[in-house]
Amino acid sequence: MRWGILGAARIARTAVAPAIRAAGGDLVAVGSRDPERARRMAGELGIREAHPSYEAVLAAAVDCIYLPLPNSLHTPWAVRALAAGKHVLCEKPLALSAGEALALDLAARTHGRVLGEALMYRYHPRWDQALRLLRSGTIGEPRHVAGSFAFPLAPGDDYRWRTELGGGALYDVGSYLVSASRQVFRAEPLRALALARSRHGVDVRCDLLLDFGERGSAALSCAFERGESQWLRVEGESGALLIPLPFTAWTGQRVPLYLERSPGAVRERLEAPAADPYQEMVDHFMKKVRTLEEPLSSAREAAANLAVLDACRSSMASGAAATVVMPPG
Ligand SMILES: NC(=O)c1ccc[n+]([C@@H]2O[C@H](COP(=O)([O-])OP(=O)(O)OC[C@H]3O[C@@H](n4cnc5c(N)ncnc54)[C@H](OP(=O)(O)O)[C@@H]3O)[C@@H](O)[C@H]2O)c1
Repeated sequence: MRWGILGAARIARTAVAPAIRAAGGDLVAVGSRDPERARRMAGELGIREAHPSYEAVLAAAVDCIYLPLPNSLHTPWAVRALAAGKHVLCEKPLALSAGEALALDLAARTHGRVLGEALMYRYHPRWDQALRLLRSGTIGEPRHVAGSFAFPLAPGDDYRWRTELGGGALYDVGSYLVSASRQVFRAEPLRALALARSRHGVDVRCDLLLDFGERGSAALSCAFERGESQWLRVEGESGALLIPLPFTAWTGQRVPLYLERSPGAVRERLEAPAADPYQEMVDHFMKKVRTLEEPLSSAREAAANLAVLDACRSSMASGAAATVVMPPG
């Protein structure tokens, strides 16, 4: 399957382009706003064609587009790629709102192409293992999810500091925490309270409280102003599951899970397999392209996640809890 990449993004160079190759994809074309950057990336990664624009990549003989542009450019470029007849694997968050994600879903259906969000953590076998443990009742019904995803980001050129490019911690890392808690409960939150601190116009810290009604609650915190931290703790009726590094278990890195059972909360260490979640994701995406089916991280799933982020953003603005309005269907 022939791939084109829009932009010489860090995540493309370090993780996804190598994963496309490892999954058996053919890296045909890369385009950059800067022709020299495109040439450099093509040279480094053995990509055959370097183009001076994204349009040129859409015109190239490729089947799939990997789209790792700043968040606000996901929707416009995914629409163009789908209209050009390409399948699209787009970085997270797929769009800036549930409405935009639904419009992308419609565009994919209209053009008969496959559209997926590159939410790679869902493809790591360790996440499957965690969900299996939860589904099998090991800790009883989950009642509370606590989690943090933070890293220090110095103010500078990074698009994450620019509100018009879809910057801020909620879109960047909060979206993972929301996605994970929705999967733990297998339900959608009814209400969201989000308290944020802004700097240079973007949320550099965002603390979320999600109300899943009778099922439970989630308390999640994301930030650009703390040291690196990434964990999730699911508390159930009869124990807890602690998942360190739930979102970026890199290739070859074995990260355990910890199970605590009541009474006594004795901690048991569980081994999880090592894997490259990016390669697993690309492999899954290509299988779905072959059968023209929706991938696991589909546009509709992204729209549901974004509906929660919509409520969080509305709560951030008002200071009050906001109702989560799920897309129909
Ligand atoms: N799934 C994951 O593990 C993961 C990890 C990190 C990031 N991401 C996602 O991947 C996307 C890119 O993140 P990144 O950290 O790789 O960012 P990045 O290195 O800044 O790359 C973004 C690319 O977008 C292009 N671009 C087009 N217009 C731009 C503008 N006005 N300002 C800045 N760049 C512009 C640039 O490519 P050219 O100049 O070459 O055209 C740039 O290299 C984001 O959506 C992010 O959420 C995902």
